[in-house]
Amino acid sequence: MQSESLPIELKYWPIKRYMDIYRHSIDEMEEFWENEARKLEWFRTWDRVLDWDPPFAKWFPGGMLNASYLCVDRHLKNWRRNKVAIYWEGENGEERALSYSQLYREVNQLASALKKLGVKDGDRVALYLPMIPELPIAMLATARIGAIHTVIFSGFSSMALADRVNDTEAKVIITADGGYRRGKIIRLKEIVDEALKKTPSVEKVIVVKRTGHEINMQEGRDIWYHEIIRDAETEVPPLPIESTHPLYILYTSGTTGKPKGIVHSTGGYLVFIHSMYKWVFDIQEESVYWCTADVGWVTGHSSIVYAPLMHGASIVVYEGAPDYPKPDRWWEIIEKYKVTIFYTSPTAIRMFMKYGEEWPKKHDLSSLTILGSVGEPINPEAWLWYFKHIGGERCPIVDTWWQTETGGIMISPAPGIGLVPLKPGSATFPLPGIDADVVDEKGNPATPGVRGYLVIKKPWPGMLMTLYKDPERYKQTYWSRFPNMYYTGDYCMKDEEGYFWLLGRADEVLKIAGHRLGTTELESSVVSHPAIAEAAVIGKPHEIKGETIVVFAILREGYSPSDELKKELRGHLRKTVGPVATPEEIYFVSKLPKTRSGKIMRRVLKALASGKPVGDTTTLEDEASVEEIKRAYEEFKKIIK
Ligand code: WT7
Repeated sequence: MQSESLPIELKYWPIKRYMDIYRHSIDEMEEFWENEARKLEWFRTWDRVLDWDPPFAKWFPGGMLNASYLCVDRHLKNWRRNKVAIYWEGENGEERALSYSQLYREVNQLASALKKLGVKDGDRVALYLPMIPELPIAMLATARIGAIHTVIFSGFSSMALADRVNDTEAKVIITADGGYRRGKIIRLKEIVDEALKKTPSVEKVIVVKRTGHEINMQEGRDIWYHEIIRDAETEVPPLPIESTHPLYILYTSGTTGKPKGIVHSTGGYLVFIHSMYKWVFDIQEESVYWCTADVGWVTGHSSIVYAPLMHGASIVVYEGAPDYPKPDRWWEIIEKYKVTIFYTSPTAIRMFMKYGEEWPKKHDLSSLTILGSVGEPINPEAWLWYFKHIGGERCPIVDTWWQTETGGIMISPAPGIGLVPLKPGSATFPLPGIDADVVDEKGNPATPGVRGYLVIKKPWPGMLMTLYKDPERYKQTYWSRFPNMYYTGDYCMKDEEGYFWLLGRADEVLKIAGHRLGTTELESSVVSHPAIAEAAVIGKPHEIKGETIVVFAILREGYSPSDELKKELRGHLRKTVGPVATPEEIYFVSKLPKTRSGKIMRRVLKALASGKPVGDTTTLEDEASVEEIKRAYEEFKKIIK
């Protein structure tokens, strides 16, 4: 029989095998997750697998466990105590390796210090640190005593830091004097000092000495990390934590100006990511695992800290810029530590593609077995380059789709269970237990080959519990677009064979080099500048970054357009949001294209910024008619010139 005439499931037997596992996991969802939960060590077994009071899920209620125990203590019971937990490499070439026993001691000392400062179960602790071992240590120390950490990406400005600290009402901030980036010192403590002027909840600031430059230390409030742990105890029993107690709050951008505090549970979250990382990365005892993300994002929480450490793997943590001092820094690190699993973003791959394959060629990358991609859709060219020049045509690429909200990977190839045939640019299929689908405008299953919206139809253990202090917004944002389905905000298409193709955001969220930024958030920053009356921000396609920021701004009476003003506005965005928010282009305009109801027609602006026609298809995101849009486009084209 010709292979073409075989039914798909027989032609691709790995897909059939995957489908069998998958179908069972969806049909017997609770039983399936209960089996996964048994793979962790619990102090007390759960009373029930799931309490589902839509859209609020409680996974494994009554179960007691501790994240720090699972990531550290558990490995001290056997030879792993002498295994390297963290290989750290500073940007300037410094090295530090921490065994699981050393990690245990440091985590306990900091946990003891935090307790002495009065940090209790349920208190929030803000972490604003560079990529140094103290960041995972601080997360684990906080979790050990039942406190809730909120990591704030160290590239964020003092204003963004203050907003997040205030929302969580954190008692303690753990930071460093500074960090290195491209050979320069980023003065973190100065940024914290600035934020502290408006953060009344903060009682103590613990400061790691990293760079050693002169900083301000306020008597009674600021304490050196190395001093506080010197007098600390080296053993603090891990507090048994109820499964639904929050492990952390992590802020992410949405479609309104205010960042959302994503709350993740302890039990459900840990069970979920423990399983995911086995399936997707096939973590083995000898794995050396390197995820290049910053711990400040969810990728870092799940893929650098919690999942690999629960599995007792050795992780690599690198402090600095990817191409510093030369474009082969990453490849050098892979060779040096014999990295087996490498996980990065399409933006980074595209950047290295530009530098050329001679850079990776200088290094022996034969230790690699699996490559991962995350953060935005990966274009087939970048996929193929990664496969060929980094993976030596030997390593499968796991294109992993997920979100801060989902806690862990949702759609991805899974070599740990059985690899399906890969298609460059497709994240393939949902992982077991994940009831993902693509639906049309009305919430009905979309026709294969047609773009629709990605939704999740059943709760999963890694899902966010709520938005911090805002359950209404949680309902509204994720569960109101389609009844009884979690709305991801992403466009997606399923092909004839059921493969998922992620097609970018369907809402007003931008992905700048994989960083998530809301247009409204950026717009409110722009209009907070005294010269600006009104603004619209859009994303424009970019070869390396995926998208870049373009600002259209209306000036206030008395101000006139100038290059200095543009420069000032750039600086203002960097200062109020952070360096990731630096706009590529700024246009001063006399008006903005709007619908009759006053909504900005972003399609018009997007078309103008990219020099492309607006197109004929009816828009999914704007409420304007095609005619209206075209008229606005023509009219606007003249203004902008
Ligand atoms: C958004 C979530 C959790 C990972 C880091 C980003 C986009 C993420 C992929 C992928 C296509 C992707 C989506 C998603 N995204 N991974 N493999 N293919 N798009 O987390 O900042 O919460 O952003 O990133 O648009 O909704 P995040």
